[in-house]
Amino acid sequence: MEDIFLDLKHIKKKYGSFTALEDINLQIKRGELVCLLGPSGCGKTTLLRIIAGLEKPTSGEVYINGVNATSFPPSRRNFGIVFQSYALFPNMTVRQNIAFGLRNKHLSKTDLNKKIMDILEQVNLTSQVDKYPMQLSGGQQQRSALARALVVSPDFLLLDEPLSALDAKVREKVRKEIRSLQQKLGITTIMVTHDQEEALTMADTIVVMNNACIMQQGAPVEVYDNPSSSFVADFIGSINFFKGSLSKNANITMDKQLEEKLLSAGPSGLKACRPEDIEIVEERSLNSFNVKIHTIEFHGYGYRLWLSLMEDEMALNNEYLSFDISAEEFFKRRLTVGDTISIRFKKGKLHYFEEECCS
Ligand SMILES: Nc1ncnc2c1ncn2[C@@H]1O[C@H](COP(=O)(O)OP(=O)(O)OP(=O)(O)O)[C@@H](O)[C@H]1O
Ligand SMILES: [Mg+2]
Repeated sequence: MEDIFLDLKHIKKKYGSFTALEDINLQIKRGELVCLLGPSGCGKTTLLRIIAGLEKPTSGEVYINGVNATSFPPSRRNFGIVFQSYALFPNMTVRQNIAFGLRNKHLSKTDLNKKIMDILEQVNLTSQVDKYPMQLSGGQQQRSALARALVVSPDFLLLDEPLSALDAKVREKVRKEIRSLQQKLGITTIMVTHDQEEALTMADTIVVMNNACIMQQGAPVEVYDNPSSSFVADFIGSINFFKGSLSKNANITMDKQLEEKLLSAGPSGLKACRPEDIEIVEERSLNSFNVKIHTIEFHGYGYRLWLSLMEDEMALNNEYLSFDISAEEFFKRRLTVGDTISIRFKKGKLHYFEEECCS
């Protein structure tokens, strides 16, 4: 049987008539890092606060380590927490900030110091121990806040957008540090983010939320490759949506398999394809259609081409189809704006959704 550390059962949260969380059911395994991912206002922080006991659910139960902790105050839940910003007390040094978490432990001065230096070593900050927050970089501040959260040896860690105040480079570095420390300590961690890249790179499990509900949960690669709804497909990574059936167009020779799939999705069903799942082929190849290059964007690792359709092969949700191509192939083919190329969706890479609309 799986080792479940946290079990949320039918959690609902209402503020007056407004529903912030609607029937949330979520199991989190011991030692895993779970990212709660979703747009602003979808209920991520509310859910984190309910897990912490800082907020009471309107109904539903929170089980921590097999115990029904729904009525426990935060102090009985034994977690460490780091918030987005203002994580440290500005009038205290790093040492004093960390000691604050230990104030009720009645440690001797030597033991207290040892604990502080041990945890600072874990986050690589021993040299900054007597500095005030304003004397630290953003990354150092968040690492100090992490040290303060961890020094009490919590059973689990709650992080609410701990990296969002940092610039891209530092963010990437601290992201790696948090992840490796979390794995080293094996501490169950729930991290809120609205940054899909952060979730994809750090999480064991991603929980995608929207409008007070969980839309999908799974390993990053599962959620990316098999989004269960157009919302998830659109929120994680880039994707092209379109309606209609390619087979209606006489100029496309299509294999039976693709044709059947497209037809089974129905003319009104939504189809989608990620920009990296398109390939250039010889003209009039099976399943191919012609497009014109409208715009070329350089993305460092390659190019994104925005393509316009030549005929009404399908009804795109956006004006152009996006297509990612490696720099190598881009140069080999000497592509320029205005060129006509033949493309097709890579085999097995079309997504189908029952819904009418993606937003
Ligand atoms: N104390 C409160 N009283 C009334 N409404 C609240 C309260 N706290 C949160 N809400 C509402 O609940 C919804 C969810 O808020 P929450 O803070 O959980 O969002 P979030 O997903 O963390 O968003 P963000 O990414 O912007 O931090 C929002 O519409 C918010 O306005
Ligand atoms: Mg929030």
